Amino acid sequence: RFGDVPEAPKDPILGISEMFNADAHAEKMNLGVGAYRDDNGKPVVLNCVREAEKRIAGNFNMEYLPTNGSKDFVQQSLKLAFGENSAHVADGSIAAVQSLSGTGSCRLMAEFQRRFMPGCKVYITVPTWSNHHNIWRDAGCEQDTFRYYKESTRGLDFEGMVEDIQNAPDGSMFLLHACAHNPTGVDPSAEQWREISKVMKAKNHFAFFDMAYQGFASGDCERDAQAIRIFVEDGHKVALAQSFAKNMGLYGQRIGTVSVMCKDKEEANRVESQLKVIARAMYSNPPMHGALIASTILGDAALKAQWYEEVKGMADRIIKMRTLLRKNLEESGSTLPWQHVTDQIGMFCFSGMTGEQVDKLRTDHHIYMTRNGRISMAGVTSSNVGRLAAAMHEVTK
Ligand code: LMR
Repeated sequence: RFGDVPEAPKDPILGISEMFNADAHAEKMNLGVGAYRDDNGKPVVLNCVREAEKRIAGNFNMEYLPTNGSKDFVQQSLKLAFGENSAHVADGSIAAVQSLSGTGSCRLMAEFQRRFMPGCKVYITVPTWSNHHNIWRDAGCEQDTFRYYKESTRGLDFEGMVEDIQNAPDGSMFLLHACAHNPTGVDPSAEQWREISKVMKAKNHFAFFDMAYQGFASGDCERDAQAIRIFVEDGHKVALAQSFAKNMGLYGQRIGTVSVMCKDKEEANRVESQLKVIARAMYSNPPMHGALIASTILGDAALKAQWYEEVKGMADRIIKMRTLLRKNLEESGSTLPWQHVTDQIGMFCFSGMTGEQVDKLRTDHHIYMTRNGRISMAGVTSSNVGRLAAAMHEVTK
């Protein structure tokens, strides 16, 4: 029956973890998937999460959540993105449902786009998180790309980006990374966001923000929402995917929110009813435990403050590793420029290494990363950074 089913190619990110797991070498390094590790290379459960778990233990049943998830969690999540005192959150004009982390949020949006935004193409940055392509492909939406990253400067191709936004048909959808762009670690400045917002407004484009790393760009969750807040201030009706995988370390809990700003509460109710229809057929309703953890943290001033501190701690450790990696590379005798290692922000360093060099790191040094040269800085530690720099120098000589 299944004789003709071909083997699927491995996922460019999760496939790396599979190869890593199969490697028995004692000093192997997984710098593939974007998952935070402490300085001993161990997964981290935040203290605020442990505290929230204690508070909710025994206080909830195992019933289904509604299709749109926990109302409390969704409200808290919107406030985190749009601002504690956002009038749009208060007046109910944002359609929003709890979803399955970033991927699930994007998938709901893509499905909504296919059903209710006919003929509207989604424009995706070059490069982007590999799963964006899969999600919009499987949802059956037409996708196109726009310039974002400039190889020569390892920075933002601002002119190219603006030109592509201007040249897209009016009313197109642009998938923007709200902060800590994956995989490049290159974000527009606040001033550049303002300009992008203006150009997009003039073209009546629709901004869909994917915010998977709130807190990881600047260490400050409020500041990392600046792009969204600038667009909203300018009168855009944006849509947004939020994930709590990275910033709360709730990876396996699959906690996120997808939201769509609408004209008013009545329109929001209609849009939300359609998001529910889509979710019902796909997975019926979202998980409860992680949503309770997140809403307990976000709903308690002291716990929220503790969480902000812990996010900053994670972001700061990554910044420290960037400094150390660059220093070690420069001291290794490498004559290549490595400034971008410290210029880029968020969880990733877009190293500039080729697929072949990445392959050599894996086969010769048991160091694993995605073939686009992306290094998950979250997996770099004080004790492995020296070996990483030496190996990078070796394969880029
Ligand atoms: C990544 O880019 O490594 C993360 O977003 C994890 C994932 O699901 O790909």
